[in-house]
Amino acid sequence: MIKPHGSDALKPLFVYDTEKRHALVAEAEELPSILLNSAAAANAVMLGGGYFNPLSGYMNLADALSVAENMHTVDGLFFPVPIVNLTKETGVQPGSRIALRDPNVEGNPVLAVMDVAAVETVSEEQITFMADKIFGSLDENHPGVATFTGLGNTLLAGTLQVLNFSYFQTDFPDTFRTAVEIRNEIAEHGWKKVVAFQTRNPMHRAHEELCHMAMADLGTDGVLIHMLLGKLKPGDIPAEVRDASIRKMVELYFPPNTVMITGYGFDMLYAGPREAVLHAVFRQNCGCTHLIVGRDHAGVGDYYGGFDAQTIFDEEVPAGALELEIYKADHTAYSKKLNKVVMMRDAPDHDKEDFVLLSGTAVREMLGKGIAPPPEFSRPEVAKILSDYYQSIDGRA
Ligand code: ADX
Repeated sequence: MIKPHGSDALKPLFVYDTEKRHALVAEAEELPSILLNSAAAANAVMLGGGYFNPLSGYMNLADALSVAENMHTVDGLFFPVPIVNLTKETGVQPGSRIALRDPNVEGNPVLAVMDVAAVETVSEEQITFMADKIFGSLDENHPGVATFTGLGNTLLAGTLQVLNFSYFQTDFPDTFRTAVEIRNEIAEHGWKKVVAFQTRNPMHRAHEELCHMAMADLGTDGVLIHMLLGKLKPGDIPAEVRDASIRKMVELYFPPNTVMITGYGFDMLYAGPREAVLHAVFRQNCGCTHLIVGRDHAGVGDYYGGFDAQTIFDEEVPAGALELEIYKADHTAYSKKLNKVVMMRDAPDHDKEDFVLLSGTAVREMLGKGIAPPPEFSRPEVAKILSDYYQSIDGRA
C-alpha cells in the first residue's frame, strides 16, 4: 500500500488507548485551558486522525514561515500549508501543559492536551507574508484571507494528544472517517489503486462523470468520495444536505462496491493551489494513490486561474515529494452534440454553446424558486434533495 507522507506508518495524534485517554481527560480538567478558534480546532482534529502525518503538533513560527514561503519546514519536511495554533490568547507559558477547549461543541469540552514548546508573537508583517503565500491574495473579501488574518498574533507551538474528534464523529457518524480508518478500509477491500475525489459541494453530473472518467482512465479499484464536513463560507450548502445528495447519486449511478463515501473534519481554506497540495498530502495519508484535481479546485471567486491548482504540482512540488499522483481533469460539462458529459479537451470541435453550462449562482437561484436544474446538469434525484433544502431556507428567511 502507498506509504503515508513522511513516515513508514501513520502516526495519528489521537490517544487510542482507552485507559490513557480517560486519564488524560481527567488530567485535563485540572490543567490551565484555552478556548481554541475553529481553525486551530480543525487542525487538531486532522492531526488526531492521522491526516497531517507526520506532524506531531502545531508548527512553530520558523516552520510556519518556512512552509508558507517554500512548502518545507526548517528541517526540510515537505508540507504545503502552515499547521498552526494562532490565537488571541495571551498568558500561556512556554514549557507548560495546557488543555485545548473546543469552540464548536456546547460546553467547550477539552479536545486535546498540548505540551507548549514555544509561545511566539507574530508581527503583522509576518501574518501578511504568510497569508500572501498561502492564498496568493491579501484581499479581506477572500474568505480564507479574512479568517487567517483575524486569528490573532500569538502562535502556540508544541505537541498534541487528541482526545476526540469534535462534532464530526457525533454529527456525521456514518460519514466522518479518520485517515487511519480509511487506510484500514482500503486494505480490507483489497484495493490497490484508489482515486480520491475532494468535494465541498453536492455532486452534479460533471462531478459524477469526473469520478467515472478517472476510475476508467486510471484503472482504479475504487473511488474515495471525501467531502469536507467543517466550516464553509456563507451560502455554501451544509454538509448534511451534500451528504444526502451524494449518497443518493452513488446509490443510483455507481456500480456497487466501487465507492467509499466519507468525510473529513476541516474548515475550508479556499486556498486554491496550496489547498490542492494539502489535499494531495492527506489523501496519500488515507492510502489513496491518486487525487482528482479539476477546474478551480478549492477556489473561490476569481482569485485563481482555472487550472492553477494543477500547475502547482508541476512547477512547485519537488519531484518525489509525494507518492500520490494527481489526475488532471479539464473543464467538464454536458455536450448537447454528443448527449453525454465530456471533458472539453475531448471535444475540440465544440463551441461554448454546444455545452450545458450553468454558474453556481444560477443553479442556486433556480433551486430557490423550486425550479429543477436541467437533467443534463443535475440528476433529478439530486436536484430534488437540493431543491427541498433551498425551499426550506427560503421559507425561514
Ligand atoms: S472544491 O472546492 O472542493 O474543489 P467542488 O466540490 O466543486 O469544490 O469540486 C470538487 C472537484 O471537482 C475539484 O477537483 C474541482 O476542480 C472539480 N470540478 C468541479 N466542477 C468541475 C467542472 N465542471 N469541470 C472540471 N472539474 C470540476
